[in-house]
Amino acid sequence: MLAELWRYWTTFAPERVRKFGYLQRLIALEFRAKRCAAAWEPHIRRCRNIIIKVADLCAKQKTCVILGSGLLLEVPLSALASRFEVVYLVDIFHMPSVRAEAKKHFNVKLLTGDITGVFQAIKERKAPGPHQPAPPPRIPHLKDADYIVSCNCLTQLAGPFTQYFEKERGFSDLDSDKVAFQVMEKHAHALAHEAAGVALLITDVERYVMAGDKIVTRTDLLKAFKLPDTPTHIHNEEWEWAIAPAPEEDPMRDIEHVVEAKVYLRLTEEEKKAAEEAGAEGEPPSLDDRFADAGSAPAADAPEGS
Ligand SMILES: C[S@@+](CC[C@H](N)C(=O)[O-])C[C@H]1O[C@@H](n2cnc3c(N)ncnc32)[C@H](O)[C@@H]1O
Repeated sequence: MLAELWRYWTTFAPERVRKFGYLQRLIALEFRAKRCAAAWEPHIRRCRNIIIKVADLCAKQKTCVILGSGLLLEVPLSALASRFEVVYLVDIFHMPSVRAEAKKHFNVKLLTGDITGVFQAIKERKAPGPHQPAPPPRIPHLKDADYIVSCNCLTQLAGPFTQYFEKERGFSDLDSDKVAFQVMEKHAHALAHEAAGVALLITDVERYVMAGDKIVTRTDLLKAFKLPDTPTHIHNEEWEWAIAPAPEEDPMRDIEHVVEAKVYLRLTEEEKKAAEEAGAEGEPPSLDDRFADAGSAPAADAPEGS
């Protein structure tokens, strides 16, 4: 705790990154990742593996964009930097350790900004709420990247805003859930339907509080939003992430998240058919059986270079 506080006070970050809790969350992530290193290892490996696997499906390997690059825990940076001409790491804030890591690769560039468009909407007095829909996302290189990865940030996008709106604008839980739904929907829709290149969406989707093997509570992290379907299912994956083994969050109970990785290839109709036929038996097993018995500074708010 003291080490986290020290890191907080000694890390230079813009006011907004502090005020909306981004810095605190990044530091909490760093320290939890260290405490839970063994439990997180399979999740991190799955993320890194699928990011590389899908990179190798890209017909062209010029530009790669990682949204929510965070601390690069789940990002196989060297593998990407050796495949693509340029790799953009996009986040609302890049910690000094990430800046140092990026500098090791001549073709890795940092873009700093808000990918939801909400900060810009606030500035234009169009903050999302009961009578104002969430703005369109601001995803750099959406229309020209060969590969774009949303790296486990989808369910983290709305929280900083909705917590702030609850305090400052009297948002109810329902108001917050609606904004979160819209922010996630617009982000996922952009990747599934507006990205020019291959898109990979990695996100946690459900949270389980466990008592041994039994699920005690189940939370839908997507607020009832359903991820867009992919043109073919053969490359999609799903796994469990032991995000907080006891006593990390609860003295007695483990917390687990279900993670989905969805691959949005740009296939011709013929390719779609062929892929479905070839992969019909290759899909990963469903988790349903197991759970059957239980629930710039974003200075101008635009990532640099967008
Ligand atoms: C769970 S972390 C992702 C971890 C990361 N993939 C890694 O490998 O370390 C979620 C990330 O999303 C970023 N993020 C949250 N809201 C954002 C926003 N509005 N715009 C850009 N990045 C955002 C956070 O700063 C954080 O780094």
